[in-house]
Amino acid sequence: MSASDRVPTEILDLARSARRVTVLTGAGMSAESGVPTFRDAQTGLWERFDPAELATPEAWEDDPAQCWAWYAWRASLVRRADPHPGHVALAQWQARPGIDLWISTQNVDDLHERAGAGVLAHVHGNLFALHCASCGAPADVDYPPITEPVARLDPPGCHQCGGPVRPGVVWFGETLPERAFQDSVEAVQEADLVLVVGTSGLVHPAASIPDFAGARGVPVVEINPRVSKVSGSVDHVWRAPAGQALPALVSALD
Ligand code: APR
Repeated sequence: MSASDRVPTEILDLARSARRVTVLTGAGMSAESGVPTFRDAQTGLWERFDPAELATPEAWEDDPAQCWAWYAWRASLVRRADPHPGHVALAQWQARPGIDLWISTQNVDDLHERAGAGVLAHVHGNLFALHCASCGAPADVDYPPITEPVARLDPPGCHQCGGPVRPGVVWFGETLPERAFQDSVEAVQEADLVLVVGTSGLVHPAASIPDFAGARGVPVVEINPRVSKVSGSVDHVWRAPAGQALPALVSALD
């Protein structure tokens, strides 16, 4: 069975004729690299940990050591993970002559970049963009290498003001980086094709970005093995894992 046999025809036709492609990715994009999603049954992080205790400004105020320890563990998980063929396929598609491909991700990991792709926007921040929680100064420190979750670890101090250094992620209740959000909206509005890969579509305002494409009549394709909140508002769905669908799609482009 050739690659194109495995790709739904209408999706392949759209991909072959597209010159400007915007790809919106969520935690499902990194699942096959061994980075857990948030809401998948049993394996999702929010199935095992309480976001109210770990991923809010209030949780940080209450117990920065508990939050820092958890993000240090997540950082070590990401560092031990490798990009999968789906990440590589997007980087290859992006490198094709005559193609503009923009990636906007909700993921705070660096797997797209490690696969060689340029990322337009990390709308929920970046795990490795550490900065001071008090004065905001970028922090030239790193997470301690831990392999198993530990209860508490004191965050390092800011070189400028001594305040605690925090992960560069956007916590629940915090506003998204304005530029990242705006760039993502423009990228879907200017695209010939939008792919929505591996998101439940439950967290706003990021979940509303695909709607800006639909409003401009830009075709939107969902790649997700399961039904999500965006499934009802896209033009085509492909019920397949990203690590299989994207390589099949990109190798079928020719
Ligand atoms: N390929 C494609 N999609 C997959 C795969 C896979 N291999 N495995 C799981 N999925 C899908 C799931 O079916 C689900 O719809 O990925 C989605 C993951 O959903 P969530 O765990 O809710 O992740 P996401 O949508 O990225 O979460 C949004 O919530 O917790 C916050 O800030 C965090 O950015 C995150 C935001």
